[in-house]
Amino acid sequence: MSVAKTLAKLEFRELRSNESKLIIELYNSLSSESIYHRFRGFFKDFEKYIKSVFSDPRNAVYGAFLNNELVGVLETVYLSDGCYEIAIVVKDNHQGKGIGTGLVAYAMSELKRKGAKTLVAHTTPDNYRILAISRKFHGTIKCMYEECTAVFNLQSINVDQFLN
Ligand SMILES: CC(C)(COP(=O)(O)OP(=O)(O)OC[C@H]1O[C@@H](n2cnc3c(N)ncnc32)[C@H](O)[C@@H]1OP(=O)(O)O)[C@@H](O)C(=O)NCCC(=O)NCCS
Repeated sequence: MSVAKTLAKLEFRELRSNESKLIIELYNSLSSESIYHRFRGFFKDFEKYIKSVFSDPRNAVYGAFLNNELVGVLETVYLSDGCYEIAIVVKDNHQGKGIGTGLVAYAMSELKRKGAKTLVAHTTPDNYRILAISRKFHGTIKCMYEECTAVFNLQSINVDQFLN
């Protein structure tokens, strides 16, 4: 009997606007808790949201694929002067396995290549996972009341260790 172990294949790549349906399907599969943490409320108009992200060519969407299934999405929205806002979600049954860390590292290396200088992420003080990831990438985290902001200086971050 073969005891060959099936190795999970995790890949990252940029997603295009013609893949919006795939992204919306992922959002629609999320638990209320993940939607709350990702969209900071019980947001539902995913179609309009993703259309607006793709409407600006300076924005980008990156995906994590596990055995060819889209399991994580990270959007980067251009703010100004080489600064982008980032937001991420990983499918509920795949959270806590390192996919979010890998996707953040991939997006950071792509943004760095494009000349981005600073990244900003907004979250809440109870979002332990994104705060743990923010610390891993040396984010400066400031929390006031119900809002935390993490700022990343891309020039001083080495993401290679998270990509191998
Ligand atoms: C936040 C999110 C993207 C992280 O992705 P993930 O694949 O689950 O994260 P990872 O497995 O790469 O890393 C999670 C880290 O949180 C840490 N963590 C988990 N629970 C924790 C807790 N209760 N206290 C402290 N750290 C905790 C883990 O130990 C891990 O860090 P480590 O690798 O140093 O051990 C994912 O959980 C998610 O989609 N959450 C809902 C949406 C969201 O919160 N988005 C972020 C706001 S935009």
